[in-house]
Amino acid sequence: MTRPVLLDVDTGIDDALALMLAVRHPDLDVRGVTCVAGNTSVDQVVRNTLTVLDAAGAVHVPVARGAERPLLAASRDASHVHGQDGLGDLGLPYSTRQPVDVHAVELMRQQLLVSSTPVTVIGLAPLTNLALLLRTYPEAAAMIERIVVMGGSASVGNATPVAEFNVWHDPEAAAIVFSADLPVTMYGLDVFYQVAVDGDDAAKLAVSADAGTSLIGRLLSGQVDNSRSEDRLLPGTATLGDAGAVCAVADPAGLVTESLPVRVSLEGEETRGQTIVDRRSRAGESDLLGRVAAPRIDVALEVDAARYRRMFLDVACQGVV
Ligand code: BDR
Ligand code: CA
Repeated sequence: MTRPVLLDVDTGIDDALALMLAVRHPDLDVRGVTCVAGNTSVDQVVRNTLTVLDAAGAVHVPVARGAERPLLAASRDASHVHGQDGLGDLGLPYSTRQPVDVHAVELMRQQLLVSSTPVTVIGLAPLTNLALLLRTYPEAAAMIERIVVMGGSASVGNATPVAEFNVWHDPEAAAIVFSADLPVTMYGLDVFYQVAVDGDDAAKLAVSADAGTSLIGRLLSGQVDNSRSEDRLLPGTATLGDAGAVCAVADPAGLVTESLPVRVSLEGEETRGQTIVDRRSRAGESDLLGRVAAPRIDVALEVDAARYRRMFLDVACQGVV
C-alpha cells in the first residue's frame, strides 16, 4: 500500500532532490507540496518547485505558496549555498504552471481532511507553514500520522556553531511543531551530510536523457566542490541532504532513532535556534527542582548511508548509475 505524504519545502538544491525522489517512489503518494521562505524567497521557492516537478514529470501534484517569513524573526536566505535562484543558478526554465489558488496551510488542511488514511508530513524547510497549520486547524492535525523534519542537530550546527538552518530560521515554529503531541522524527545534521553521491556519479547522471535524472546530476555536480560541504563530507562528494529525510519515510529501517527530550532554544544571540537534545540517562538537579520536561521526539542518530544512496539512485535516478 502506498503511504500518503505532504511535503513542505524551500526549494533549494537538496529539496529538489527530495521532491524528485518522493514523486518517483512507488511506495509514496505525494498529495501536495507546500512552499515556504527559507533557502530563498517564497515566490522563488514556488517557481523552483514547479520547475522541479515539471522535470520529474509530476505535473499533477498541487503546489501551494505559504509563509513569506518566519513567525517572529526576519527572513534570511541561503543563497551562498543554493545560488541566487536557489537552484544553483543553472538557468533553468520557468514552469508554465501556476500554484493552486489557496494558501499552503489551506492545501495541507484540505488534503489531510480528505484522506482516508493518516498522512505523513515531511518538513524540509523552516517549519513556519506547519506551525501555522497546527495552530489554525488543530482538527486537521488528527490526520497526521507522523511529521518527519529535516532540521536540528544533537551535535554541532551549520547556520551557527550550534543551530541548524531550518530551525534557526524559525525557532518559534520548530518549538510549536516539536511540542505538538504528535509523533515527530528529527532527521538532523547528525545524519544529514552522510548520504552522499560522488562527483563521477553526478557527472553520469547529468548527461542522462531523462529530464529529472539530468537535473539531479547537474544540481549535484554543482555542489561537489561547495565549500559548505566542508569536513562533514568526503572530498569530491555532494550530500543528498533533504532527500535523506524522504528515504527515511520510505524505508525507516535505514535509520537509528532514539526517543529523546528536545528543547528549541529561543533566546540568546549565540544559542537561538539550537536544538538542545537531552541525552542524559538520569535526571539532574534542575529537573529535580521542578524544571518542566522538554517534549520527546525521535532523534535520528545513525543512518545506513549506503542503503539510502542506493535507493535514491535506483528510484529518483532510475538506476542510471
Ligand atoms: C537545511 O537547510 C537548507 O539549506 C537545506 O535545504 C536543508 O533543508 C540544512 O540545514
Ligand atoms: Ca530545505
